Amino acid sequence: MSVFVPADYFRELRREEIFPDATRPLEIDLGSGDGTFLVEMARQHPGRDFLGIERMSGRVEKTARRIRRAALPNVKILQLESAYSVGWLLPSAGVSRLHLLCPDPWPKKRHHKNRLVNNAEFLGGLERILVPGGEFLLKTDHPEYFSDAQASLASRLVFRSLEWPEDAFCYPQTDFEKHWLALGLTIHRARWRRT
Ligand SMILES: C[S@@+](CC[C@H](N)C(=O)[O-])C[C@H]1O[C@@H](n2cnc3c(N)ncnc32)[C@H](O)[C@@H]1O
Repeated sequence: MSVFVPADYFRELRREEIFPDATRPLEIDLGSGDGTFLVEMARQHPGRDFLGIERMSGRVEKTARRIRRAALPNVKILQLESAYSVGWLLPSAGVSRLHLLCPDPWPKKRHHKNRLVNNAEFLGGLERILVPGGEFLLKTDHPEYFSDAQASLASRLVFRSLEWPEDAFCYPQTDFEKHWLALGLTIHRARWRRT
């Protein structure tokens, strides 16, 4: 089944409700857009499970079509809001890596509170859902969003910043990343480990 529909949206999920084998690493792509990165990661890492989370119906449907065409058993898409999913729904100590790639930057000052990396529900949830040694990976074209993220994560003692050289591991470019790069913008990236 390409679309994941929780049996109950109002309690924490068990890891095996998302994919049956709870011993496999689970990766989350938050705000997964049309699913290009999500499906490519699932193709390249058959030993890992991937869940995309996206709130827009059209993008969820497009991702579901991509998953069905690729016929991969290790990838699903969930239509839901990111902060709620991370804060309350996803299983505690159940996620190996969480990817937040080209999130909406909310550039206006009065909207900065909407940035995920400034959201206490999200940050507390990130701490809760990552396994010890699990990673949070961020890419953004927006320098101010990037500094907000660095300040937020630095204020949480369980996160340690890691190097992320270009060739550290295989990491497909996302649709938005390709678009910003084609316009000549710089993509900032950072990676943190949950201790
Ligand atoms: C700028 S796009 C980036 C998409 C993809 N990650 C990429 O890099 O190509 C941001 C995506 O996050 C989704 N999104 C934004 N806020 C969200 C939220 N609170 N919950 C779930 N999805 C959200 C948007 O609908 C959009 O698809």
